[in-house]
Amino acid sequence: MSKQKTEILADNQTGIARAVALLRRGRLVAFPTETVYGLGADAGNDSAVSAIFAAKNRPQFNPLIVHVQSASRARDIARFNTQAQQLADAFWPGPLTLVVPLKPGAGISPLASAGLDTVAIRVPKHPLAQSLLSGFSHPIVAPSANPSGGVSPTTTDHVIAGLGTKIAAVMDGGACAVGLESTIIGFENGPTLLRPGGLPLEVIGQCLGQPLRLPPLANERPNAPGQLASHYAPNALIRLNANSVQPGETLLGFGPMACDLNLSATGDLSEAAANLFSHLRMLDAKNVPRIAVSPIPDHGLGHAINDRLMRAAAPRP
Ligand code: TXA
Ligand code: MG
Repeated sequence: MSKQKTEILADNQTGIARAVALLRRGRLVAFPTETVYGLGADAGNDSAVSAIFAAKNRPQFNPLIVHVQSASRARDIARFNTQAQQLADAFWPGPLTLVVPLKPGAGISPLASAGLDTVAIRVPKHPLAQSLLSGFSHPIVAPSANPSGGVSPTTTDHVIAGLGTKIAAVMDGGACAVGLESTIIGFENGPTLLRPGGLPLEVIGQCLGQPLRLPPLANERPNAPGQLASHYAPNALIRLNANSVQPGETLLGFGPMACDLNLSATGDLSEAAANLFSHLRMLDAKNVPRIAVSPIPDHGLGHAINDRLMRAAAPRP
């Protein structure tokens, strides 16, 4: 792949127009969503979609999320059963992805769905993502804008650090408010959690009036390949649920305590989610060899934080 100078586009009409023009030419443009930055391409353009896999060094079997402007655009490309429609009505735009049957002839590149007959769809809430979708007026595929297996980016600097020279542009929308990827729900055999994320499962269960089915154990067949054991991994080794620090460890704390860096000194899970990836990157930038992480409560956003930490701590391939 040839090296290119990655443009940084401002959050204004000129920046949006430039991003739209680049997408129309089949180029890759990273953009902010409320969860993490996505690496966008025209969902209907095979060579643009294929360039995403190359830029990220992502295995071709791992399908991408299709981003659309509204639930009604989503219904143009996929079939929604009652429960999928219920969740779309309640939580879109927002940090939720629904895996639903793809309509044949919907114009989505088969590379995007990795040849599956389902498609993962999301309506992002971030105003810049909304402006981009409305300016481009077609679906945009966007995985997180990081090299495959690494930590998702929550700022423009993170995108440049991972993919600079490999993509045409990044739209600068500041730090992502949620900081964790979207929650993914599938509907095969009933509503099932495929990836915990920025929308807590309790909230989703409440909306449906039934608890979600949980994913199969991590080392069984991964039904959302983001469920592969080692993922979201920084360079340092990670030890979880640390109630004390061992020699050579750096403590990533949670709640009021003495530590090297705190996810949330007040013990606020939303703040901890928003800080998680940037704090892991900060510790990596200091080349610390081992990170100990304080216990994080396993409810609400804490469930997704613990999921990402477990993957970050998992043995590397
Ligand atoms: O918050 C997010 O979801 C971000 C922003 C940019 O939207 N995107 C994101 O994309 O996290 P990515 O590619 O890093 O993760 C997408 C996940 C992967 O685990 C993939 O395997 C799963 O979605 N996925 C995509 N299509 C699927 C399908 N048809 N069935 C099951 N899982 C699917
Ligand atoms: Mg990702």
